[in-house]
Amino acid sequence: LFYGVQTLRQLLPHSIENPATYARKLNVPTGYIFDRPRFQWRGLMLDVSRHFLPPADVKRFIDAMAFYKLNRLHLHLSDDQGWRIEIKSRPNLTAVGGSTKVGGGAGGFYTQDEYRDLVAYAAQRFITIIPEIDMPAHTNAALASIPELNCDGVAPPLYTGIAVGFSALCVDSASVLPFVQDVVREIAALTPGDYFHIGGDEVMKLTHAQYISFIESVQQVVNANGKRMIGWGEISPAALTPNTIVQNWKKDSSFVHAARGGKVIMSPSAKAYLDMKYDSATILGLRWAGLVEVKTSYDWDPAAFIPGVAESSILGVEGPLWSETLVKREDYELMAFPRLIALAETGWSRQTSRDWNDFRVRLAAHAKRMAAMGINFYRSPQIDWQH
Ligand code: ACM
Repeated sequence: LFYGVQTLRQLLPHSIENPATYARKLNVPTGYIFDRPRFQWRGLMLDVSRHFLPPADVKRFIDAMAFYKLNRLHLHLSDDQGWRIEIKSRPNLTAVGGSTKVGGGAGGFYTQDEYRDLVAYAAQRFITIIPEIDMPAHTNAALASIPELNCDGVAPPLYTGIAVGFSALCVDSASVLPFVQDVVREIAALTPGDYFHIGGDEVMKLTHAQYISFIESVQQVVNANGKRMIGWGEISPAALTPNTIVQNWKKDSSFVHAARGGKVIMSPSAKAYLDMKYDSATILGLRWAGLVEVKTSYDWDPAAFIPGVAESSILGVEGPLWSETLVKREDYELMAFPRLIALAETGWSRQTSRDWNDFRVRLAAHAKRMAAMGINFYRSPQIDWQH
């Protein structure tokens, strides 16, 4: 019923998105629409660690997600540059680790009450929040906050650059698992959704054996707190239970998890990463996975993308919006829109009913709608925008 209402909204004039026009009569043509989603997982990831996004800005994303029938909001809550959620048993994580951001200056974090409020706001719109605490790498903010997570017991300085791979929890230290337990327990208690994302990507400072054994221990902690574990593709070689979910982002070993009956979320960087530049003139964003114009972000079939990861293994799609170069809400929006709309359709519609030349015409009609919603978006030259 909720998505039926969103369809109805999309069929009405764009001006209904502007509250000033509410008090008037609209005639709706009658008709039947038979529709259902292709995938159960239709997600957006916001990186609130590299730069912090205040709750009010996250709510605006939640509103737009609901309108486009997305139902999973993955919050990347920790990384080298910032720890963004209050942990009452470990107050230094936010006092120190939440204090800054890429480029320096004040960071920010969600109090537990603010996080609960976001969870409730999302739930009212049928969106599940998935918290991610990235480990064992991407952990400098935690390492700077809690000295005993480091092998030498010395907290490194806070980090405000954008390199990756240099940090790792001292996984053989007796202090690390209790830390993971505290963090997972507190966040799991605030999160009614089934999922807890543990990151697991880009680990360069541990041996393979150390990494695998850590991931397997964390899986036990997550399951003991009543959650399904999610991790980036790199976790696949660990002894994962079929209930664990792997999020594909590059040429990784996600197919190993599919082969054991596990589910995969498709976020291939060359298609689904919302932080890649649109073209060589795009000022914001990165380009290590290539330039991702709107057509590129639309024109792919999740079930035909990785050999060994077929439709039946795919839970759905998710667009990660990494924020190394994104400072304020308008920046996040410019990179997300309109590619997030392309992703929403990739997640919802059967492949046989998806066609770029049709989509680009339908998308053009959303310029005024996005404008009425106050969304800052990229006017791709691939679209004949209606002005
Ligand atoms: C990732 O982009 N490191 C998951």
